[in-house]
Amino acid sequence: MKSKNSKGIKSAITAVSGYVPSDVLSNSDLEKMVDTNDEWIFSRTGIKERRIARNPLEPTSFLAIQAANKLLKKQKTDPLSIDLIILATATPDMPVVATAAYIASEIGAHNAFGFDLQAACSGFLYGMSTAAAYIESGRYKKVLLIGADKMSSIVDYTDRATCIIFGDGAGAVLFEPSENEFGYEDSYLRTDGSGRDSLTIKSGGSLYPYNESTFAEGGHNIKQDGQTVFKNAVKNMADAAEQVLIQNDLSGDDIAYLLPHQANKRIIDATARRINLSEDRVLMNIEKYGNTTAATLPLLISDFESKFSKGDKLIFAAFGGGFTWGAVYLTWNYDYKN
Ligand code: UT7
Repeated sequence: MKSKNSKGIKSAITAVSGYVPSDVLSNSDLEKMVDTNDEWIFSRTGIKERRIARNPLEPTSFLAIQAANKLLKKQKTDPLSIDLIILATATPDMPVVATAAYIASEIGAHNAFGFDLQAACSGFLYGMSTAAAYIESGRYKKVLLIGADKMSSIVDYTDRATCIIFGDGAGAVLFEPSENEFGYEDSYLRTDGSGRDSLTIKSGGSLYPYNESTFAEGGHNIKQDGQTVFKNAVKNMADAAEQVLIQNDLSGDDIAYLLPHQANKRIIDATARRINLSEDRVLMNIEKYGNTTAATLPLLISDFESKFSKGDKLIFAAFGGGFTWGAVYLTWNYDYKN
């Protein structure tokens, strides 16, 4: 395990919370919308249902604010003490202006600065290393990292290749200086831009600004070449998880839990096999939420928080559009308190 840095500061997650909308979109609901069926979806992905924020007045910021406020209340944290808000998202409220700034104002974090981090499904993973680095710099004491996505706002519900996997949700964690020897340990992060056309919203950026034909072609919706993404995800997520273990002289036996991005159960199983982890040490909630993009990892931490003990070695792994991927090694910082 790595010791504290040269400033004597180690960062740690000290609180977590999650939020999902109450409306359920089940596989049987999707059967009525596209040519698919529950058996196909569940056997190919592990998903049974997902949550959808149907109210158009509940954008990504709404989901993020619910998670953030829950965390502040649970941790009895004054929002004025927050130094920085990082929002990992692929679905900001608006293409220009950081949604994090609006979230900061709405939760009363008036002393904070904030920015959005776009790395698709790896956004929260990259955000963990970013939040940790700000704390380790010694200049910031409380960094609120939120992963939130309203995927239903960019999904084409006539496209069965994408609409079956995505859902909406948000999760938040607080990074602070660790008061013991546990916390953020190490990461292995990578990108490969040659994969950017395989999972993308093509229009609305500087390369293909919106016009009538981009709308007619559906360029404002997310499109994926599922098989290409799948193959790259299986290889790279497993490689990253293995690599972060090697970097830290660890084997699968040392790991309490793997917290993998929830895109497809088959990708998760391949990653777990590579690092020799039995099923009981692989955390999953894909069955009930689907792929919530930047929200999958904080929702996992939130759902399984009560299982973690101080000192547990956790491995996080993700793969997403870009391509972006990686793994983070963290030792859990506290015992569960109700
Ligand atoms: O978060 C990171 C980003 N996303 C991912 O990691 C997703 C990665 N990709 C995947 O998870 C999978 O590729 C999918 C779940 C999207 C698709 O599963 P697949 O096993 O790769 O299916 P496929 O695209 O190879 O299609 C197999 C068959 C095809 O039919 P034929 O040509 O064999 O007759 C498809 O037309 O399944 C058909 N198919 C469907 N059938 C029922 C494709 N989508 C559906 C569907 N329902 N929704």
